[in-house]
Amino acid sequence: MFDRSIKIAPSILSADFANFGKEIEAIETEGCDWVHVDVMDGHFVPNLTFGPPLCKAIRKHINTVMDVHLMISPVDPYIEAFADAGADVLTAHLEAGPHIHRTLQAIRGAGCKAGLALNPATGIEDVEYLLDMVDLICVMTVNPGFGGQKFIHSQIDKVKKLRAMIGDRPIHIEIDGGITPETAPLMAAAGADVLVAGSAVFKGGSVDNPAPYGDNIRSIRAAAEAAL
Ligand code: DX5
Ligand code: ZN
Repeated sequence: MFDRSIKIAPSILSADFANFGKEIEAIETEGCDWVHVDVMDGHFVPNLTFGPPLCKAIRKHINTVMDVHLMISPVDPYIEAFADAGADVLTAHLEAGPHIHRTLQAIRGAGCKAGLALNPATGIEDVEYLLDMVDLICVMTVNPGFGGQKFIHSQIDKVKKLRAMIGDRPIHIEIDGGITPETAPLMAAAGADVLVAGSAVFKGGSVDNPAPYGDNIRSIRAAAEAAL
């Protein structure tokens, strides 16, 4: 069921990698809406994380939405594997190859919701002919590759233009990078509904002390909702 209420999607890039199952259970207990999974290949982005087997292993710990962000190139050879691993949303970058239209078709064909991610330097012109084949557009507010980077303010204007271009279509706008209680309201006001946050959710907590995760999620959500 599509809705544009504010959704907080913690990125497990900032979780304890030796404890993914417990970390996911903790953020869900503490009130997150989606779980954001950052897949990096050391080629499209200068960092390496994990692939389909890890996604499959953590899937059984996720009761909300498994939101898989593919920072990989090429994408197409791996779509089936990530769909089999249980991704609900599978997001590919517009910059990952020359045939993003085909990639989005393949993602929906594999039974996932299709996400389209845009790097900070990418304009929205190339999104126009893809609007009827995407369920989510992810606007990167940092250069992809690492958690804990500084929010890029020029992307506020991009989100406003994108929201106008989307019109009444049931498409989520997701923001990824540098989201805090200070930056979340800027993006909510501009028209975003899914807020990814890694460092700002996991800071101060651990699997043995998950209460700060809840405090962090609630303060990001409250700040964003206050801007609507
Ligand atoms: C960056 C990733 C993000 C990242 C966000 O390449 O796509 O999801 O983990 O981390 P923060 O919230 O710390 O900027
Ligand atoms: Zn991400």
